[in-house]
Amino acid sequence: MKKIIDKLAATQTLEKEELLYLLSNTDQNSNEYLFSKARYVAKQQFNDQIYLRGLIELSNYCKCDCLYCGIRRSNKMAERYRLTPEEVLDCCEIGHNLGFRTFVLQGGEDCHFSDDIIVSMITSIKSAYPDSAITLSLGEKSKASYQSYFKAGADRYLLRHETADPTHYAKLHPKSQTLQTRMKCLYDLKSIGYQVGTGFMVGSPYQTLDNLVSDLLFIQEFQPHMVGVGPFLPHHDTPFGHHEKGSMELTLLMIAILRLMIPNLLIPSTTALGTIKPTGREQGILAGANVIMPNLSPTNVREKYLLYDNKISTGQEAAEGVIDLRNRMQTLGYQIPVSRGDFRPTDPHSNLQPVDPHGCTRPLCSSLYPPTERSSYHVQSSI
Ligand code: 5AD
Repeated sequence: MKKIIDKLAATQTLEKEELLYLLSNTDQNSNEYLFSKARYVAKQQFNDQIYLRGLIELSNYCKCDCLYCGIRRSNKMAERYRLTPEEVLDCCEIGHNLGFRTFVLQGGEDCHFSDDIIVSMITSIKSAYPDSAITLSLGEKSKASYQSYFKAGADRYLLRHETADPTHYAKLHPKSQTLQTRMKCLYDLKSIGYQVGTGFMVGSPYQTLDNLVSDLLFIQEFQPHMVGVGPFLPHHDTPFGHHEKGSMELTLLMIAILRLMIPNLLIPSTTALGTIKPTGREQGILAGANVIMPNLSPTNVREKYLLYDNKISTGQEAAEGVIDLRNRMQTLGYQIPVSRGDFRPTDPHSNLQPVDPHGCTRPLCSSLYPPTERSSYHVQSSI
Protein backbone atom coordinates (compact mmCIF):
# COMPACT_ATOMS: atom_id res chain seq x y z
CA MET A 1 0.00 0.00 0.00
CA LYS A 2 2.81 2.38 0.98
CA LYS A 3 4.39 1.80 -2.43
CA ILE A 4 1.22 2.88 -4.26
CA ILE A 5 0.87 5.97 -2.08
CA ASP A 6 4.53 6.85 -2.68
CA LYS A 7 3.99 6.43 -6.43
CA LEU A 8 0.95 8.72 -6.35
CA ALA A 9 2.89 11.34 -4.38
CA ALA A 10 5.89 11.18 -6.70
CA THR A 11 4.12 11.05 -10.06
CA GLN A 12 0.66 12.55 -9.32
CA THR A 13 -0.94 9.66 -11.11
CA LEU A 14 -2.03 6.06 -10.66
CA GLU A 15 -3.48 3.43 -12.95
CA LYS A 16 -7.17 2.61 -12.62
CA GLU A 17 -6.35 -0.74 -10.95
CA GLU A 18 -4.01 0.93 -8.48
CA LEU A 19 -6.66 3.47 -7.50
CA LEU A 20 -9.16 0.68 -6.98
CA TYR A 21 -6.63 -1.22 -4.87
CA LEU A 22 -5.98 1.90 -2.81
CA LEU A 23 -9.69 2.39 -2.13
CA SER A 24 -10.42 -1.29 -1.44
CA ASN A 25 -7.57 -2.04 0.94
CA THR A 26 -7.58 0.72 3.45
CA ASP A 27 -6.44 0.38 7.02
CA GLN A 28 -5.71 2.94 9.67
CA ASN A 29 -1.94 2.91 9.16
CA SER A 30 -2.01 3.42 5.43
CA ASN A 31 -4.75 6.06 5.75
CA GLU A 32 -2.60 7.99 8.22
CA TYR A 33 0.35 7.70 5.86
CA LEU A 34 -1.74 9.01 2.96
CA PHE A 35 -3.22 11.86 5.03
CA SER A 36 0.20 12.97 6.26
CA LYS A 37 1.56 13.12 2.71
CA ALA A 38 -1.47 15.01 1.47
CA ARG A 39 -1.29 17.42 4.39
CA TYR A 40 2.38 18.03 3.74
CA VAL A 41 1.74 18.86 0.07
CA ALA A 42 -1.12 21.21 1.02
CA LYS A 43 1.06 23.01 3.55
CA GLN A 44 3.82 23.43 0.97
CA GLN A 45 1.46 24.62 -1.74
CA PHE A 46 -0.52 27.06 0.38
CA ASN A 47 2.04 28.12 2.93
CA ASP A 48 0.05 26.88 5.94
CA GLN A 49 -2.89 29.02 4.86
CA ILE A 50 -6.57 28.11 4.70
CA TYR A 51 -8.65 30.18 2.29
CA LEU A 52 -12.08 31.45 3.28
CA ARG A 53 -15.12 31.73 1.01
CA GLY A 54 -18.31 33.36 2.22
CA LEU A 55 -21.29 31.29 1.18
CA ILE A 56 -24.47 33.19 0.37
CA GLU A 57 -27.42 30.89 -0.25
CA LEU A 58 -29.49 32.96 -2.67
CA SER A 59 -32.57 30.84 -3.07
CA ASN A 60 -33.86 27.36 -2.32
CA TYR A 61 -36.34 27.35 -5.21
CA CYS A 62 -35.15 24.74 -7.71
CA LYS A 63 -36.51 23.41 -10.96
CA CYS A 64 -34.35 20.29 -10.71
CA ASP A 65 -35.44 17.08 -9.08
CA CYS A 66 -32.22 15.38 -7.99
CA LEU A 67 -33.30 12.39 -5.95
CA TYR A 68 -30.82 13.05 -3.14
CA CYS A 69 -31.43 16.75 -2.59
CA GLY A 70 -33.69 18.30 0.05
CA ILE A 71 -34.52 21.35 -2.08
CA ARG A 72 -35.60 19.28 -5.09
CA ARG A 73 -38.68 20.53 -6.91
CA SER A 74 -40.86 17.65 -5.72
CA ASN A 75 -40.24 18.31 -2.04
CA LYS A 76 -43.46 20.05 -1.14
CA MET A 77 -42.41 20.21 2.52
CA ALA A 78 -39.51 22.58 1.84
CA GLU A 79 -40.24 26.14 2.92
CA ARG A 80 -39.04 28.22 -0.01
CA TYR A 81 -37.25 31.57 0.14
CA ARG A 82 -35.14 33.82 -2.02
CA LEU A 83 -32.92 36.71 -0.99
CA THR A 84 -33.32 40.16 -2.49
CA PRO A 85 -30.31 41.80 -4.19
CA GLU A 86 -30.16 44.20 -1.22
CA GLU A 87 -29.97 41.31 1.24
CA VAL A 88 -27.17 39.75 -0.82
CA LEU A 89 -25.22 43.02 -0.72
CA ASP A 90 -25.75 43.22 3.04
CA CYS A 91 -24.23 39.73 3.39
CA CYS A 92 -21.24 40.86 1.31
CA GLU A 93 -20.77 43.95 3.48
CA ILE A 94 -20.76 41.88 6.66
CA GLY A 95 -18.39 39.39 5.03
CA HIS A 96 -16.03 42.00 3.67
CA ASN A 97 -15.73 43.62 7.12
CA LEU A 98 -14.80 40.21 8.52
CA GLY A 99 -12.01 39.73 5.97
CA PHE A 100 -13.79 37.65 3.32
CA ARG A 101 -12.52 38.32 -0.20
CA THR A 102 -14.55 35.66 -2.01
CA PHE A 103 -18.32 35.54 -2.11
CA VAL A 104 -20.00 32.38 -3.33
CA LEU A 105 -23.51 32.95 -4.66
CA GLN A 106 -25.11 29.54 -4.45
CA GLY A 107 -28.69 28.60 -5.13
CA GLY A 108 -31.14 26.18 -6.61
CA GLU A 109 -31.98 26.60 -10.29
CA ASP A 110 -34.50 29.36 -9.60
CA CYS A 111 -36.15 30.77 -12.76
CA HIS A 112 -36.90 34.01 -10.91
CA PHE A 113 -33.20 34.88 -11.14
CA SER A 114 -33.01 35.87 -14.80
CA ASP A 115 -29.62 36.51 -16.39
CA ASP A 116 -30.30 40.25 -16.08
CA ILE A 117 -30.86 39.98 -12.34
CA ILE A 118 -27.75 37.82 -11.88
CA VAL A 119 -25.62 40.16 -14.01
CA SER A 120 -26.83 43.17 -12.08
CA MET A 121 -26.07 41.44 -8.77
CA ILE A 122 -22.53 40.59 -9.94
CA THR A 123 -22.01 44.17 -11.17
CA SER A 124 -23.08 45.75 -7.91
CA ILE A 125 -20.99 43.38 -5.75
CA LYS A 126 -17.94 43.96 -7.98
CA SER A 127 -18.32 47.72 -7.88
CA ALA A 128 -18.69 47.74 -4.08
CA TYR A 129 -15.89 45.21 -3.50
CA PRO A 130 -13.48 45.29 -6.46
CA ASP A 131 -10.85 43.46 -4.40
CA SER A 132 -13.08 40.40 -4.00
CA ALA A 133 -13.72 37.36 -6.17
CA ILE A 134 -17.21 36.20 -7.06
CA THR A 135 -17.93 32.51 -7.33
CA LEU A 136 -21.24 31.38 -8.77
CA SER A 137 -22.91 28.07 -8.04
CA LEU A 138 -26.24 28.35 -9.80
CA GLY A 139 -26.41 25.11 -11.74
CA GLU A 140 -26.74 24.33 -15.43
CA LYS A 141 -27.11 27.32 -17.79
CA SER A 142 -26.51 28.01 -21.47
CA LYS A 143 -23.00 28.97 -22.57
CA ALA A 144 -24.33 32.44 -23.42
CA SER A 145 -25.59 32.89 -19.85
CA TYR A 146 -22.26 31.74 -18.40
CA GLN A 147 -20.54 34.21 -20.75
CA SER A 148 -22.71 37.10 -19.62
CA TYR A 149 -21.93 36.43 -15.95
CA PHE A 150 -18.22 36.18 -16.72
CA LYS A 151 -18.31 39.44 -18.64
CA ALA A 152 -20.02 41.09 -15.67
CA GLY A 153 -17.12 40.07 -13.43
CA ALA A 154 -17.80 36.56 -12.07
CA ASP A 155 -14.47 34.80 -11.54
CA ARG A 156 -15.30 31.22 -10.64
CA TYR A 157 -18.08 28.68 -11.05
CA LEU A 158 -18.87 25.59 -9.01
CA LEU A 159 -20.82 22.76 -10.60
CA ARG A 160 -20.32 19.29 -9.21
CA HIS A 161 -20.41 16.48 -11.76
CA GLU A 162 -21.92 14.32 -8.94
CA THR A 163 -20.73 11.06 -10.53
CA ALA A 164 -18.71 10.48 -13.69
CA ASP A 165 -20.57 7.28 -14.53
CA PRO A 166 -23.62 7.90 -16.77
CA THR A 167 -25.49 4.84 -15.46
CA HIS A 168 -24.96 5.91 -11.89
CA TYR A 169 -25.89 9.51 -12.81
CA ALA A 170 -29.20 8.20 -14.16
CA LYS A 171 -29.95 6.53 -10.81
CA LEU A 172 -29.49 9.82 -8.95
CA HIS A 173 -31.42 12.09 -11.30
CA PRO A 174 -34.64 12.17 -13.32
CA LYS A 175 -34.46 11.40 -17.05
CA SER A 176 -34.44 15.09 -17.96
CA GLN A 177 -31.07 15.59 -16.21
CA THR A 178 -28.10 13.91 -17.90
CA LEU A 179 -24.39 13.59 -17.29
CA GLN A 180 -23.87 14.72 -20.88
CA THR A 181 -25.47 18.12 -20.18
CA ARG A 182 -23.53 18.46 -16.93
CA MET A 183 -20.25 17.75 -18.71
CA LYS A 184 -21.06 20.19 -21.51
CA CYS A 185 -21.63 22.90 -18.89
CA LEU A 186 -18.31 22.12 -17.22
CA TYR A 187 -16.38 22.29 -20.50
CA ASP A 188 -18.23 25.50 -21.48
CA LEU A 189 -17.27 27.11 -18.18
CA LYS A 190 -13.63 26.17 -18.62
CA SER A 191 -13.48 27.44 -22.18
CA ILE A 192 -14.93 30.80 -21.12
CA GLY A 193 -12.09 31.27 -18.65
CA TYR A 194 -13.71 30.66 -15.27
CA GLN A 195 -11.80 28.99 -12.46
CA VAL A 196 -13.98 25.89 -12.40
CA GLY A 197 -14.93 23.68 -9.50
CA THR A 198 -16.50 20.27 -9.77
CA GLY A 199 -17.03 17.44 -7.29
CA PHE A 200 -19.09 14.54 -6.08
CA MET A 201 -20.68 12.91 -3.08
CA VAL A 202 -19.11 9.91 -1.40
CA GLY A 203 -21.49 7.08 -0.61
CA SER A 204 -24.40 8.29 -2.71
CA PRO A 205 -26.96 5.51 -3.28
CA TYR A 206 -25.81 2.74 -5.68
CA GLN A 207 -22.26 4.13 -5.80
CA THR A 208 -19.47 1.56 -6.17
CA LEU A 209 -15.73 1.94 -5.63
CA ASP A 210 -15.41 1.68 -9.41
CA ASN A 211 -17.59 4.79 -9.66
CA LEU A 212 -15.26 6.66 -7.32
CA VAL A 213 -12.28 5.62 -9.44
CA SER A 214 -14.11 7.03 -12.48
CA ASP A 215 -14.61 10.29 -10.56
CA LEU A 216 -10.88 10.52 -9.87
CA LEU A 217 -9.97 9.71 -13.47
CA PHE A 218 -12.43 12.27 -14.79
CA ILE A 219 -10.94 14.91 -12.49
CA GLN A 220 -7.44 14.00 -13.60
CA GLU A 221 -8.48 14.49 -17.21
CA PHE A 222 -10.60 17.62 -16.73
CA GLN A 223 -8.08 19.35 -14.45
CA PRO A 224 -10.52 21.58 -12.56
CA HIS A 225 -9.27 24.36 -10.30
CA MET A 226 -11.43 23.26 -7.37
CA VAL A 227 -13.05 20.01 -6.24
CA GLY A 228 -15.70 19.68 -3.53
CA VAL A 229 -16.21 16.27 -1.98
CA GLY A 230 -18.60 15.45 0.82
CA PRO A 231 -20.37 12.39 2.19
CA PHE A 232 -23.91 11.73 0.99
CA LEU A 233 -26.33 12.49 3.83
CA PRO A 234 -29.99 11.47 3.55
CA HIS A 235 -32.80 14.02 3.62
CA HIS A 236 -36.03 12.59 5.05
CA ASP A 237 -38.31 14.19 2.44
CA THR A 238 -36.50 12.73 -0.58
CA PRO A 239 -36.70 9.30 -2.25
CA PHE A 240 -33.26 8.55 -0.73
CA GLY A 241 -34.37 9.42 2.80
CA HIS A 242 -33.83 5.85 3.99
CA HIS A 243 -30.46 5.24 2.35
CA GLU A 244 -27.29 4.91 4.38
CA LYS A 245 -25.12 7.97 4.76
CA GLY A 246 -21.68 8.03 3.16
CA SER A 247 -18.47 7.27 5.02
CA MET A 248 -16.40 10.06 6.50
CA GLU A 249 -13.21 8.01 6.31
CA LEU A 250 -13.70 7.33 2.60
CA THR A 251 -14.41 11.03 2.02
CA LEU A 252 -11.14 11.94 3.74
CA LEU A 253 -9.35 9.37 1.60
CA MET A 254 -10.73 10.95 -1.58
CA ILE A 255 -9.58 14.40 -0.41
CA ALA A 256 -6.08 13.10 0.27
CA ILE A 257 -5.84 11.30 -3.09
CA LEU A 258 -7.03 14.44 -4.90
CA ARG A 259 -4.42 16.53 -3.08
CA LEU A 260 -1.66 14.21 -4.28
CA MET A 261 -3.08 13.98 -7.81
CA ILE A 262 -3.35 17.76 -8.28
CA PRO A 263 -1.13 19.44 -5.66
CA ASN A 264 -2.37 23.01 -6.24
CA LEU A 265 -6.07 22.08 -6.37
CA LEU A 266 -8.41 24.14 -4.20
CA ILE A 267 -10.23 21.63 -1.99
CA PRO A 268 -12.88 22.75 0.49
CA SER A 269 -13.44 20.91 3.71
CA THR A 270 -17.18 20.75 3.18
CA THR A 271 -20.22 21.47 5.31
CA ALA A 272 -21.31 17.86 4.80
CA LEU A 273 -18.07 16.73 6.48
CA GLY A 274 -18.79 19.09 9.37
CA THR A 275 -22.31 17.68 9.58
CA ILE A 276 -21.37 14.01 9.66
CA LYS A 277 -19.03 14.70 12.60
CA PRO A 278 -18.47 17.86 14.66
CA THR A 279 -14.73 17.75 13.93
CA GLY A 280 -15.22 16.68 10.32
CA ARG A 281 -14.09 19.95 8.78
CA GLU A 282 -10.88 19.94 10.82
CA GLN A 283 -10.27 16.36 9.75
CA GLY A 284 -10.76 17.42 6.12
CA ILE A 285 -8.04 20.04 6.55
CA LEU A 286 -5.74 17.44 8.11
CA ALA A 287 -6.37 15.17 5.11
CA GLY A 288 -5.21 17.87 2.67
CA ALA A 289 -8.14 20.27 2.13
CA ASN A 290 -7.26 23.99 2.08
CA VAL A 291 -10.54 25.92 1.84
CA ILE A 292 -13.40 26.56 4.26
CA MET A 293 -16.72 28.06 3.23
CA PRO A 294 -18.51 29.57 6.21
CA ASN A 295 -22.12 30.53 5.79
CA LEU A 296 -22.79 34.26 5.32
CA SER A 297 -26.51 33.85 4.59
CA PRO A 298 -28.90 35.65 6.96
CA THR A 299 -29.42 33.36 9.96
CA ASN A 300 -33.20 33.20 9.44
CA VAL A 301 -32.89 31.45 6.05
CA ARG A 302 -30.03 29.07 6.83
CA GLU A 303 -32.23 26.29 8.15
CA LYS A 304 -34.32 26.46 4.98
CA TYR A 305 -31.39 25.70 2.65
CA LEU A 306 -31.54 22.10 3.76
CA LEU A 307 -29.90 19.83 1.20
CA TYR A 308 -29.73 17.00 3.77
CA ASP A 309 -30.87 16.35 7.34
CA ASN A 310 -29.08 18.03 10.25
CA LYS A 311 -27.04 20.33 8.00
CA ILE A 312 -24.93 22.40 10.38
CA SER A 313 -26.42 25.81 10.87
CA THR A 314 -25.31 27.09 14.20
CA GLY A 315 -27.44 30.21 14.25
CA GLN A 316 -24.10 31.78 15.10
CA GLU A 317 -23.63 35.23 13.60
CA ALA A 318 -20.98 35.36 10.87
CA ALA A 319 -18.61 37.37 13.08
CA GLU A 320 -18.64 34.90 15.96
CA GLY A 321 -18.29 32.06 13.47
CA VAL A 322 -15.17 33.52 11.88
CA ILE A 323 -13.45 34.23 15.19
CA ASP A 324 -14.18 30.69 16.27
CA LEU A 325 -12.91 29.32 12.97
CA ARG A 326 -9.67 31.36 13.09
CA ASN A 327 -8.99 29.98 16.55
CA ARG A 328 -9.71 26.43 15.52
CA MET A 329 -7.45 26.70 12.47
CA GLN A 330 -4.70 28.30 14.52
CA THR A 331 -4.81 25.38 16.94
CA LEU A 332 -4.13 23.11 13.99
CA GLY A 333 -1.21 25.26 12.80
CA TYR A 334 -2.92 27.20 10.00
CA GLN A 335 -3.59 30.88 9.32
CA ILE A 336 -6.53 32.41 7.50
CA PRO A 337 -5.34 35.28 5.28
CA VAL A 338 -7.42 38.21 4.08
CA SER A 339 -7.13 37.22 0.44
CA ARG A 340 -9.11 36.10 -2.59
CA GLY A 341 -7.26 32.79 -2.47
CA ASP A 342 -7.10 32.32 -6.22
CA PHE A 343 -5.97 29.17 -7.98
CA ARG A 344 -2.27 29.38 -8.77
CA PRO A 345 -1.18 27.51 -11.89
CA THR A 346 1.81 25.22 -11.59
CA ASP A 347 4.88 26.37 -13.46
CA PRO A 348 5.33 23.75 -16.21
CA HIS A 349 9.13 24.16 -16.02
CA SER A 350 9.56 23.28 -12.38
CA ASN A 351 7.98 20.26 -10.83
CA LEU A 352 5.14 21.15 -8.42
CA GLN A 353 6.27 24.78 -8.12
CA PRO A 354 3.29 27.13 -8.11
CA VAL A 355 3.62 30.37 -10.02
CA ASP A 356 3.46 33.47 -7.88
CA PRO A 357 0.87 35.89 -9.29
CA HIS A 358 3.39 38.73 -8.86
CA GLY A 359 6.04 37.02 -10.94
CA CYS A 360 8.31 35.42 -8.37
CA THR A 361 8.20 31.79 -7.35
CA ARG A 362 8.04 30.71 -3.78
CA PRO A 363 10.77 28.22 -2.96
CA LEU A 364 9.52 24.81 -2.00
CA CYS A 365 11.32 22.36 0.18
CA SER A 366 13.70 20.30 -1.97
CA SER A 367 12.70 17.11 -0.24
CA LEU A 368 8.99 16.98 -0.85
CA TYR A 369 8.02 14.47 1.78
CA PRO A 370 10.13 14.43 4.92
CA PRO A 371 9.83 11.02 6.56
CA THR A 372 9.40 12.46 10.05
CA GLU A 373 6.38 14.65 9.25
CA ARG A 374 3.94 11.80 9.65
CA SER A 375 4.33 11.33 13.35
CA SER A 376 3.92 15.00 14.21
CA TYR A 377 0.19 15.09 13.50
CA HIS A 378 -2.64 12.87 14.33
CA VAL A 379 -5.99 13.51 12.77
CA GLN A 380 -7.96 12.73 15.92
CA SER A 381 -5.77 14.05 18.68
CA SER A 382 -5.15 17.61 17.61
CA ILE A 383 -8.78 18.73 17.66
N1 5AD B 1 -26.02 14.83 0.79
C1 5AD B 1 -24.81 15.35 0.53
N2 5AD B 1 -24.59 16.28 -0.40
C2 5AD B 1 -25.66 16.76 -1.09
N3 5AD B 1 -25.74 17.64 -2.07
C3 5AD B 1 -27.04 17.76 -2.43
N4 5AD B 1 -27.79 16.93 -1.70
C4 5AD B 1 -26.95 16.27 -0.86
C5 5AD B 1 -27.11 15.27 0.11
N5 5AD B 1 -28.31 14.74 0.38
C6 5AD B 1 -24.57 18.28 -2.68
C7 5AD B 1 -24.54 17.99 -4.17
C8 5AD B 1 -24.67 19.36 -4.78
C9 5AD B 1 -24.16 20.26 -3.69
C10 5AD B 1 -24.63 21.66 -3.78
O1 5AD B 1 -24.63 19.66 -2.51
O2 5AD B 1 -23.30 17.38 -4.51
O3 5AD B 1 -23.93 19.52 -5.96
